Amino acid sequence: MRMTFLRLSRAATAGLVAAAALTAAAHPAEAADTLGSAAAGQGRYFGTAVAASHLDEADYVSTLNREFTSATPENEMKWDATEPSRGNFTFGAADQVVNHARSQGMDVRGHTLVWHSQLPSWVGGLGAADLRTAMNNHIDSVMGHYKGRIHSWDVVNEAFQDGGSGARRSSPFQDKLGDGFIEEAFRTARAADPAAKLCYNDYNTDGVNAKSTAVYNMVKDFKSRGVPIDCVGFQGHFNSASPVPSDFQANLQRFADLGVDVQLTELDIEGSGTAQADSYARVVRACLAVDRCTGITVWGVTDKYSWRSSGTPLLFDGDYDEKPAYDAVLSALGGSGGGDDGGGPGDGTASCTATYTRTADWSSGYNGRVTITAGSEPIGSWATTVTFTSPQQVQATWNATATWGGNVMTARPSWNGSLAAGASTSFGFTVAKNGSDAAPAVGACTAS
Ligand code: G3I
Repeated sequence: MRMTFLRLSRAATAGLVAAAALTAAAHPAEAADTLGSAAAGQGRYFGTAVAASHLDEADYVSTLNREFTSATPENEMKWDATEPSRGNFTFGAADQVVNHARSQGMDVRGHTLVWHSQLPSWVGGLGAADLRTAMNNHIDSVMGHYKGRIHSWDVVNEAFQDGGSGARRSSPFQDKLGDGFIEEAFRTARAADPAAKLCYNDYNTDGVNAKSTAVYNMVKDFKSRGVPIDCVGFQGHFNSASPVPSDFQANLQRFADLGVDVQLTELDIEGSGTAQADSYARVVRACLAVDRCTGITVWGVTDKYSWRSSGTPLLFDGDYDEKPAYDAVLSALGGSGGGDDGGGPGDGTASCTATYTRTADWSSGYNGRVTITAGSEPIGSWATTVTFTSPQQVQATWNATATWGGNVMTARPSWNGSLAAGASTSFGFTVAKNGSDAAPAVGACTAS
């Protein structure tokens, strides 16, 4: 039997940011060998776009769970997915991403509420008054569904034109509601979920240029008039025609100086090898140099599922092996060691993932289930932790042997240790809420 990587749990990594998790305190030396834990050590999150359609792929999920502390549904929260026809809200795919992310202790970025693209045609057909009602209802309904579960929302996406004009982009919202639609969207969003950070998100705004200056002027105006805005998202889609600008850090800083957080929301950099790695490192260093740059999201886990896959713009290749860009990012974040042991699936490495679901709920208690899934190799045993919130009490467990340290349960197999590659088993527990409805945090899965 081979022991494989033992790493800080997703929940513990999130806990580092909150300076609260028991497991983080217990394993400080392990805190820097994944993107998420290294970023947490810098007080930042490290996220990725997630597609619900890949959550049934073991290697995708194990990489996601191991490396990232934040998730952005890549397409699942867009208007065409969430309100395909007027008043008909469909959250199935977005719920899958949100539930998975939260079961792993990740934050979720909401993307996106008001955008000209992936907009169902019925919206474009509305007159001004109807469109205003529909826009506000869409924001209310989608944010209401996820209320309390989203760290930051991209309230308005890509509302400015490219090029030197600094003008607004033509869209149903701009053309029928005028410049005020962005302010209105933000005011509606604040009321819908006062706890969520509200961001404006755009591309080609990474350096100081006419487009970013137009956004800057809007944010400055919002701040001076008390229009609720908390953050600006810089997408960061780079390639040889649109490289990381030399004034990237200065641009982030000028926005931060307006009193908003800045977030790198969709980072990907086409290329390979050292050149790609150097560009990634520059971007990370720029974020770390700006106090209010609170986190980085890359636009996908693996090159093979990138929206521009042929440009190989991400940190993991199609086999989920770490690229030089991964090492550069980890190192720039102050981490070391590299995420897994350097090998990919099929190289003799045992691995597993653990995901949590609440299976029953009543006023005084709930039942939970943790599903253990083997990676691309068979495993002989597994272990994971489940951290409960005091004063909850676990009254029963099944299909696992539990040992306890404070409110952290370590679960090991009772009879169900052996799993074929990709196969799953589960264990469960009954919890007395004692006044707390908090979800337990499931740690990393360790296989041997
Ligand atoms: O799921 C369907 C599939 O059933 C169908 O067979 C196939 C045929 O074209 O389409 C699939 O949907 C595609 C979807 O991605 C899922 O893969 C859509 O066609 C395709 O348009 C969509 O592209 C997305 C794009 O936004 C749309 O504008 C990309 O995945 C997504 O990465 C990209 O993300 C955007 C951000 O939201 C905003 N900033 C720019 C960024 C990159 O374009």
